[in-house]
Amino acid sequence: MTQAAARHWDEWQRRRTPGRFADWADHPYVFQRLCAHAFGDPACDFFDFIQNSLPELANAHVLSLCCGDGAFEQSMLERGVFGRVTGLDVSPERVRVGQERVHALGGELAARMKLHCDDVNHADLGSGRYDVVFAKSALHHIENLEHALPAMVRCLKPDGVLVTIDFFGPTRFQWTEEQLRARSWFWRHRVPAALRLDEQGQPIPEIGRPDLEAMIAMDPSEAVRSGELHALLTRQFEPIHDIALGGALLNLLLYGDIVNRFDPDKEAHRAVIAEAFELERLLMEFGVLDSDFRLIIARPRPSGNSPASVPKESFLRRLARRWGHPP
Ligand SMILES: C[S@@+](CC[C@H](N)C(=O)[O-])C[C@H]1O[C@@H](n2cnc3c(N)ncnc32)[C@H](O)[C@@H]1O
Repeated sequence: MTQAAARHWDEWQRRRTPGRFADWADHPYVFQRLCAHAFGDPACDFFDFIQNSLPELANAHVLSLCCGDGAFEQSMLERGVFGRVTGLDVSPERVRVGQERVHALGGELAARMKLHCDDVNHADLGSGRYDVVFAKSALHHIENLEHALPAMVRCLKPDGVLVTIDFFGPTRFQWTEEQLRARSWFWRHRVPAALRLDEQGQPIPEIGRPDLEAMIAMDPSEAVRSGELHALLTRQFEPIHDIALGGALLNLLLYGDIVNRFDPDKEAHRAVIAEAFELERLLMEFGVLDSDFRLIIARPRPSGNSPASVPKESFLRRLARRWGHPP
């Protein structure tokens, strides 16, 4: 499984086309809207939010899991959010590209960033070593959460903190009925016809649930246990912030290469994205859609202090709470 995932990500790194968006949140206008919704301030991004919440991390030693080529971590160092980063990724090619880029930078920034090849499913992360565990688009690739989550707790110093920005949506992208219905309606009724064509002018097919066998053959680590991740993570870590970033509609709307059809400089394209955000927020508010992506800042729970599981509030009860009628 891990070998196959490593091969997939090696190949992904080799095929990466500079200047093209890799996913929905790569798109600058989407990123701007996402941050505005998440932090209530269009001028605040992830870097600012983490820095404002935990200014002491400017000197922190950070372990970054599934760091890829470490480009985001490098920005964290450049923006003064973190002090020093040790990154781990299973893909030798991604690590090699990251190491070369960091090496070419030279100077004190290069000295503050080390990348290694390792498998988070089995890696020994040590004990009491790091001030922060950072995981961006990372934990949803981990199958052996029974090893990784306790290892993440163990490797933190006392007062250490977890910062994760990740996908917590349906395991192996088996989208909910509500997601597919919302996406299909929006695609057919609110996206202009020209944007529903690919670069060759062919109609882009509707999104469905991916075939499991094909998905596992392509990348067995993709969303391998993402549907369980939030419950398992919050059993070991107590959130200080757990921020819904959305994505249950937006990620599907702009899935794969579709995001590249939306030109950030075209007002009409931005208007479609803005409207999709509005609908997504409304459906989240009414409990029809969950937030597939979340930013969580958390501390390890004192051992044996797992929270009692809280039953999910029903859609009707939430509607009633919102509009002031009994369910
Ligand atoms: C979606 S990418 C995210 C990369 C980076 N964190 C970012 O946000 O750009 C997922 C990364 O997880 C890595 N990965 C997958 N399974 C892994 C494992 N078992 N151990 C370590 N890294 C893994 C992949 O090689 C890939 O670089």
